[in-house]
Amino acid sequence: MSGRVAIAGKGGVGKSTIAALLIRALHERTDKVVMAVDADPNSNLGEKLGVKVERTIGDMREDLLKKADEVPAGQSKHDYVRYQMQLATVEGSSFDLLTMGRPEGPGCYCFINNILRTFLDEAMDKYDHIVIDNEAGMEHLSRRTTKRMDAFLVISDNTKTGVETAVRILKLAQEMGIEIGSTTLVLNKVSGDVYPIVKDIVQASSFEQVVVLPFDRDVEKASVEGRSMMELSDANSLYQKIKVLASEL
Ligand SMILES: Nc1ncnc2c1ncn2[C@@H]1O[C@H](COP(=O)(O)OP(=O)(O)OP(=O)(O)O)[C@@H](O)[C@H]1O
Ligand SMILES: [Mg+2]
Repeated sequence: MSGRVAIAGKGGVGKSTIAALLIRALHERTDKVVMAVDADPNSNLGEKLGVKVERTIGDMREDLLKKADEVPAGQSKHDYVRYQMQLATVEGSSFDLLTMGRPEGPGCYCFINNILRTFLDEAMDKYDHIVIDNEAGMEHLSRRTTKRMDAFLVISDNTKTGVETAVRILKLAQEMGIEIGSTTLVLNKVSGDVYPIVKDIVQASSFEQVVVLPFDRDVEKASVEGRSMMELSDANSLYQKIKVLASEL
């Protein structure tokens, strides 16, 4: 598997959990640093990866708008944004995490956003694998993060609403004209069988691949205790399944 993996889905279905485990699995497979992008304004991918995020791209954007005149002398706005992006990147041993933070408020952000897009593309080109954890809405995907994704993972739980949302997200991404490689629907937190009503919707959908992941007690416990997915045992059955997913995408 190579390139950009974008993860989307309804709130609370397990996007960040799966993103973190996938980042871990990709690093284990390739021994290369994976780029992690948290594109959810209520960011918590850092927590799932076990790192503290002090600064987001959103903070930088606000600062730059408020203090446009305070770009240090001798530095162009481009250099300043590039430098700030480095500050907003948390470097782990197996990943570099960039957190997008809150979206823009009212004001003219076009100039800043244009620079940002260039630098994001530039940064992404340096990595073999990029995993983007999106918010449920696809706003970020279209405007800021990417115009192309090699694999699109839409996560759902074992509910009608979850899977209907997944189908809607796929349609939306296709309508936005985003270039999409493979499409995978991940049914997560499934204990027992996939419900017939869910199965029917899945069968009528245009996802190329469907993967079912079990509800996992260790993941639940880690989440309750605020521990990261990097601490989960290598033998954990959910992690084993995510490793297979990483190899198949
Ligand atoms: N397979 C699983 N087994 C057990 N618990 C899970 C599993 N996947 C996710 N969870 C739990 O579900 C909750 C939501 O997960 P997570 O934060 O990853 O979802 P999300 O889709 O990123 O949510 P949000 O939309 O708020 O960003 C967490 O408590 C997480 O530990
Ligand atoms: Mg999340």
